[in-house]
Amino acid sequence: MALPPNGHHAKMLVLQIVMIVALVLSSTAYGAGNFRDEFEPTFGDHRVQMSGPGTRDLSLSLDKFSGSGFRSKKEYKYGRIDMQMKLVPGNAAGTVTTLYLSSDQSTGVHDEIDFEFLGNVSGQPYTVHTNVFSEGQGNREQQFHLWFDPSLNFHTYSIVWNPRLIMFMVDETPLRVFRNYENHGITFFPKKQYQRIYASLWNADDWATQGGLVKTDWSKAPFVANYRNFNIDTSANGSWKNHDLDANSRRRLRWVQKNYMIYNYCSDWKRFSQAFPPECKHSKFN
Ligand SMILES: *[C@@H]1O[C@H](CO)[C@@H](O)[C@H](O)[C@H]1NC(C)=O
Ligand SMILES: *[C@@H]1O[C@H](CO)[C@@H](O)[C@H](O)[C@H]1NC(C)=O
Repeated sequence: MALPPNGHHAKMLVLQIVMIVALVLSSTAYGAGNFRDEFEPTFGDHRVQMSGPGTRDLSLSLDKFSGSGFRSKKEYKYGRIDMQMKLVPGNAAGTVTTLYLSSDQSTGVHDEIDFEFLGNVSGQPYTVHTNVFSEGQGNREQQFHLWFDPSLNFHTYSIVWNPRLIMFMVDETPLRVFRNYENHGITFFPKKQYQRIYASLWNADDWATQGGLVKTDWSKAPFVANYRNFNIDTSANGSWKNHDLDANSRRRLRWVQKNYMIYNYCSDWKRFSQAFPPECKHSKFN
């Protein structure tokens, strides 16, 4: 390469190279997730809006006529999905924003892995609702508050699903680990069926808000939730395969469970007065 004629040009060249490298890195770091290639709308017509360069942005809206949603074109068995999401701001009571995996629900024995975000009145915290279904059975709820306001900025919500565990994460901090205890004779774990990735924004004011006490304020409609920069890793050599807790993430998980967990089915004595689901006696130790 010819030497640049003077210091000024050399600096410009270095700056240009730095900018190009930064551009390349920023487009690969979050995966070049293109919504139009990987996803398709499921309901809500024009309320599903894909936009931005390479359709890396998507918004869902909800009004009194309909919510909206989308799903992956492909089905997966195991992998990791990361999605940046910004939830409905302001008075979002009654709205539910979701990111979940599900197999074909018409079978009656479907599998599902749920991340659901229950909106609240202004200034009050969202509830993060998680659940796992295996062959049509659910009832494995855990709920959390968050340590930030999820409607102000994008945060990364992740689901890791491998043969040994399901992990729910927010900005890499694990909220919940659901393990496969089949070597203890416990068969409850989604492992037989392929699942698609789904996301939606819908009205659930009949159950989401303190048992339907607070109704959705339609004068604030349309409600909008934003999704962007997703990454789906199902590669044979992907780190999702061996993903598990290390010392640091275990400490983070304990911190979340101690300070932000608001419901755990494994502690609900009233509901399971006869017997707790069998995995509860193991899951304390994660
Ligand atoms: C809304 O906020 C109240 C008060 O903090 C809380 O008790 C309730 O669980 C929240 N509701 C939802 C749906 O998150
Ligand atoms: C994983 O394999 C793909 C090809 O299948 C390759 O492009 C990629 O660099 C590999 N990644 C790692 C971390 O080894």
